[in-house]
Amino acid sequence: MTHAHLLPRVPIQHRRRQPADMVREAEEFAERMAQRRSVRDFAPDPVPEKVIEAAIRAASTAPSGANVQPWRFVVLTDPARKRRLREAAEAEERAFYDHRASTEWLGAISGLGTDWQKPFLETAPAVIVVFEVHQGPHSPKPYYVKESVGIAVGVLITALHHAGLVTLTHTPSPMRFLNEVCERPREERPYVVMPVGYPAPDARVPDLARKPLDEVMIRW
Ligand SMILES: Cc1cc2nc3c(=O)[nH]c(=O)nc-3n(C[C@H](O)[C@H](O)[C@H](O)COP(=O)(O)O)c2cc1C
Repeated sequence: MTHAHLLPRVPIQHRRRQPADMVREAEEFAERMAQRRSVRDFAPDPVPEKVIEAAIRAASTAPSGANVQPWRFVVLTDPARKRRLREAAEAEERAFYDHRASTEWLGAISGLGTDWQKPFLETAPAVIVVFEVHQGPHSPKPYYVKESVGIAVGVLITALHHAGLVTLTHTPSPMRFLNEVCERPREERPYVVMPVGYPAPDARVPDLARKPLDEVMIRW
């Protein structure tokens, strides 16, 4: 493969704001992000397609190793396709909870009250399955794939929350069955499954605490 020529340079789009405005907006944003929760009980109501599209557009602006942008977002809204996804996921999850997961792992997630059943994969109006895109017939070799896709998913979660939707970061183990359900080639590797929608009216979430700033931040 030949190396690309040096890209032309364009001015950075940046507007400097007043420090006081920045502080206020940063604090408001942190408050808003603190409201984000992983939801496991969804209302069946449809979501605007344009919101999902814009959130994925936002996610695809994420930085990536060598700007390879090694991600694919597969949006499932077709009920038959979501049913297949749920059935395949539950078969894997049943084996995970029955014998694949270590006692230590089951202990770590016991407080969340999750089990092998994944009705949200069918109830949520949309499910976004995110894939890492590795080298293949139509894709170049990526660098720092996990980091890049993780950052893009972080932006996606933030964008969905900002737009007023809820989601869950769901990681079935193993995940290869997702290639078949989503009809994706081998070089695309499943990364995460994200049901998206509105919470069910009676949805409850675990009463979790977040670490305080002085525990997560060190300043010298
Ligand atoms: C990488 C990753 C994988 C996760 N996998 C699952 C999962 O498979 N099933 C699930 O119910 N929650 C899963 N979660 C959600 C976490 O349990 C949840 O983020 C955590 O308990 C904090 O709750 P919050 O998201 O409401 O702040 C996952 C989260 C992350 C970041």
